[in-house]
Amino acid sequence: MSSAISPPAISSPGLDDVVAAETVLSHVDGEAGRLIIRGYDLDELAGRWSYEAVAGLLWSGFAAEDNEAAVKAGLGRARVAAFDTALALLPQARALSPVEGLRLMLAALPDASPVPAHVLATAAVPVFAAAIVRQGRGFAPLPPDATLSQAEDFLRMARGEAVPAAHARALDTYMVTVIDHGLNASTFAARVVAATRAGMASSVVAGLCALKGPLHGGAPGPVLDMFDAIGTEAAAGAWLGDALDRGERLMGFGHRVYKVRDPRADVLKAVAASLKGGSNRVRLAEAVEAAALDLLKARKQTKPLQTNVEFYTALVLEALELPREAFTAVFAAGRVAGWAAHVMEQEQTGRLIRPQSRYVGPLPRRAA
Ligand code: ACO
Repeated sequence: MSSAISPPAISSPGLDDVVAAETVLSHVDGEAGRLIIRGYDLDELAGRWSYEAVAGLLWSGFAAEDNEAAVKAGLGRARVAAFDTALALLPQARALSPVEGLRLMLAALPDASPVPAHVLATAAVPVFAAAIVRQGRGFAPLPPDATLSQAEDFLRMARGEAVPAAHARALDTYMVTVIDHGLNASTFAARVVAATRAGMASSVVAGLCALKGPLHGGAPGPVLDMFDAIGTEAAAGAWLGDALDRGERLMGFGHRVYKVRDPRADVLKAVAASLKGGSNRVRLAEAVEAAALDLLKARKQTKPLQTNVEFYTALVLEALELPREAFTAVFAAGRVAGWAAHVMEQEQTGRLIRPQSRYVGPLPRRAA
């Protein structure tokens, strides 16, 4: 390369060690296996605080709705407001996968609206996801009930009937567990768009698009496919060894930041074990997990690979009778409040995000 084209000082294709934002929202300690959500360890919040309370915690200082009651009321009203968009776009969503259908519907939300945009986006994701699940099962969508929590109303709309309190609590715990997680790929994507001042809905769509990929939020459906293919505890080692021989990645393992076990995996393992119908799968999952960790330790010595959040997510969402093809959309229903908080933080305190690329193409020559 000629010195006429000077490279930027630092090159980091995966941005592994780059700090691209300052945030008060959450911190992932990859060495200690610790997730801090705005001053609380995840264990303090999951199963104790509602999704609405944790959303309020994240939004505090950035939005008017910052306490549990105000967030719950605002989200309830906004779910009702979002339902018409779901009805209008369901026919077009029929030909798409659930997460693609969700992307279509979210893209129809305005960036500026009478309902605060972060509330509308957060409320809309479960309404859209539930309508898509119902349509996939051959039924008309159920309208939202503004008096319920996000978790209970989502599950009710998706399953078409009132749900047991234990199921609503389990989904609430899941949604809190995934609500925010540092500068993960989808949050980064949302912040990049927010930094251009494109607006809330546009930023959330960007987050969803990044979440869709199997290396990020697309993993839990394939985790269930893996359990089905393995079948029995005794078959786990051989099946996983063959998959690694073929060069495949084992879904639900590995993480860019965690060098130890993802703390969210244990929270969700306990939730899965508490749900009726989850226990048989938990035994199979434990056998798969143990065999996978042994194999990964032996064969992938460049980096410690541990269980991540998606592994036990698969068991929780299956026990809640949600279809595996919609798992990424359910993940989005939890993560969206975190995206919204990051978008507001980026808009208030951030800077246009504009890194450089290193040019490795041909040197300039004369055009013929
Ligand atoms: N199975 C097998 N090998 C793996 C796995 C895995 N799950 N994860 C990483 N590796 C291997 C890589 O192939 C690489 O091997 P090599 O050194 O022989 O080339 C080595 O481990 C290092 O991996 P990186 O590429 O540095 O890992 P990176 O930090 O880029 O990727 C990721 C992290 C994407 C999560 C990866 O571990 C993965 O693909 N996991 C499976 C998919 C998954 O579970 N996604 C959900 C993540 S959690 C979330 O986003 C909510």
